Amino acid sequence: MKNSEIIKNLSLDDKIKIVTGQDFWYTKELKNEGLKSLLLTDGPSGVRKQEEDIDALGLNQSIETISFPSLALIACSFDKDLLRQYGEYLGQIAKSEKVKVLLGPGINIKRNPLAGRNFEYMSEDPFVSGKLGTAYIKGLQSQGVGASVKHFATNNRENQRFTNSSNIDERTLREIYLSAFETIVKEAEPATIMSSYNFLNQVPVSENKWLLTDLLRNEWGYQGVVVSDWSAVKRRAQSLKAGLNLEMPGKGEATLTEVKDAIKNGQLDEHILDVSVDRVLTLMKDYQIKEEVQSYDKETYHDFARELARKSIVLLKNENENLPLKPSSLGLIGELAENPRYQGGGSSKVNPYHVVTPLGAFKNQQYVYAQGYNINNHEVDQQLQQQAVKVAQQNDQVVLFLGYPESYETEGLDKDSLSLPDNQLALIDAVTKENENVTIVLQNGGTVLMPWADKVKSIVETYLPGEAVGEAIYDILTGKQNPAGKLAETVPQRIEDVPSYLTFNQSKADENYREGIYVGYRYYDTKNIETQFPFGHGLSYTTFDYSNMQITNQESSLKVSLDIKNTGNIFGEEVVQIYIGNRTSDIDMPFKELREFERVALEVNETKTINFEIPHKAMRWYNENRGQWQIDDGEYIIYAGSSVEDIRLEQPITLNITNQTTSNQIHEDTYLSEIVTRKEAFKQSLEQYNLDKIIDAVIENPELTSIFENVPLRSLIMVNIDIKIVRDFIDAANEELSKQA
Ligand code: BGC
Repeated sequence: MKNSEIIKNLSLDDKIKIVTGQDFWYTKELKNEGLKSLLLTDGPSGVRKQEEDIDALGLNQSIETISFPSLALIACSFDKDLLRQYGEYLGQIAKSEKVKVLLGPGINIKRNPLAGRNFEYMSEDPFVSGKLGTAYIKGLQSQGVGASVKHFATNNRENQRFTNSSNIDERTLREIYLSAFETIVKEAEPATIMSSYNFLNQVPVSENKWLLTDLLRNEWGYQGVVVSDWSAVKRRAQSLKAGLNLEMPGKGEATLTEVKDAIKNGQLDEHILDVSVDRVLTLMKDYQIKEEVQSYDKETYHDFARELARKSIVLLKNENENLPLKPSSLGLIGELAENPRYQGGGSSKVNPYHVVTPLGAFKNQQYVYAQGYNINNHEVDQQLQQQAVKVAQQNDQVVLFLGYPESYETEGLDKDSLSLPDNQLALIDAVTKENENVTIVLQNGGTVLMPWADKVKSIVETYLPGEAVGEAIYDILTGKQNPAGKLAETVPQRIEDVPSYLTFNQSKADENYREGIYVGYRYYDTKNIETQFPFGHGLSYTTFDYSNMQITNQESSLKVSLDIKNTGNIFGEEVVQIYIGNRTSDIDMPFKELREFERVALEVNETKTINFEIPHKAMRWYNENRGQWQIDDGEYIIYAGSSVEDIRLEQPITLNITNQTTSNQIHEDTYLSEIVTRKEAFKQSLEQYNLDKIIDAVIENPELTSIFENVPLRSLIMVNIDIKIVRDFIDAANEELSKQA
């Protein structure tokens, strides 16, 4: 039956119930129409389906399933095919558990490394989150399971997440914080979008019509369902008006009464309710369980979790080819080797199928182990530390397993420091005094400061690598897997260097995004601030050579091609990154921005030509004064590199794509500097009004040049030129221009 007919026959109560969760995880069933309830459940790192006690904070147990790596790690693969495959695996599991909407992926921008939920998010760069998020969702939805992209939008801190207002100018909002959502809406068509808890520019997101309707629906053309984050809705009638279709979990009778009263009082038009009912009905029809439920082979899925982790782990430092481990005596130190951290706390926490610890993965190797510290206690334990020092003295190579305790980073709470606990820092000092060949393996949801980086030979970043944590680390340390992961966020040297350092969590009520578009590398790179490890950085056990960059300007895109060669002696993969710098705009711009990337696999000595097609649209920026996107004509630099700081090739290109004739016109506020630059275009008019002499004098006399450069045409009265002459000249000059066009 058509939605409109169903809606016609529904009572008001039933309509309200359809747009309200039936309970914590299910939508309402519609028996007469043969539509079963849909099960929505977390999430991004594995299927967190609860059968008994329910909660959205990771407190109660869920079914046993595969714990995959956190998105913070998987994003480091920069591998769209892998993300698509990951989506397919998640979809298969969800299907076998009768889950129809999986609450993920989280694609919020990592604005500040203290943010408690960064482990669930992908990157500080919207292009990376947009493209990888698209691949994940396409994979997931190809299995008949809907995605829920979250948290829309600007949910970039956890403290006071239900009430705090993210205050952001429109350019920053569109270019940085909304851009990945826009890409995903347009390219992946997610079944649902989860609206966030916070306020945006003082309006609760769940009541924000500009965000949920004007932008999302009318501008971007979104067709799916907007679902609330769990208990995000305060005023249901307002949220319906704003375009929030499905409230989860719903407040039962309270919601029913509130919406009915609003309709009775004329505060809410029933047709607005019908629009949301229509959308939820479409979702229910699209995602009914149609096939037999099949179980999945947990061993195969566990192996995929291992594959995901090892393809994403980032080798940050490797002096003197310290890694892979050589066959020599080996010391493994640190409680995290025995009791690893492999997933984050909160709603993404799953009940793992089979955790393999690092010690477990090394079980067939010769090693000596020392606990070194207590993960849940920050005090130095002298005895544990002494045992570790002994291991460091008696073995050629040492691997130190360090990281944040779970209590440091979880949903609902931001960190207040980026340092490892004191006992771990003391252990680094003690161990590195005794042994020169130390590798640090990190387990952490978000960035760790590394003032100790110079003391060790190698650093391996694993974020939260999922239940195959030990095996994936083993593969990287032994060289079974050649690392190719790249940082999807910058590791700063000091917390004070972080662009939002001055404002982050400074007010309970307001989060002011004063750094604007300068988030992550856009800030460090533009300001030339030294980082610990830059965005896009990650080493390999082989080396790559970049050459032969060719750029062709096509009708609506740039074609960039280059050759990449594996110049080392083992198979390896490299993530080639294309950045573009706008050198032409008359507004501030980041020095360069990531516009494409590709992960390339190369045998020894193999060379591949990589072709990128970058739409001109990628060069757009948001002009707030005009209320529209703009592309500048003029000079750009195209960079190809192995990280934002390790640029291997670059080439300038001049774009002339907009053909904007009107913007060439001059007016009373046009500065003389522009008239000087374009004097050939106005030659006749300048002569006609005797202004050519002034322009020549300005050009010939350097002192005058600097003074007159900053004088607009209307201020020529300062040198006794009648305003009428100026105005006539402007008209004549614009006419002269239009004849040339
Ligand atoms: C989280 C969401 C999650 C939901 C359901 C909320 O607390 O913010 O990310 O999907 O709970 O568990």
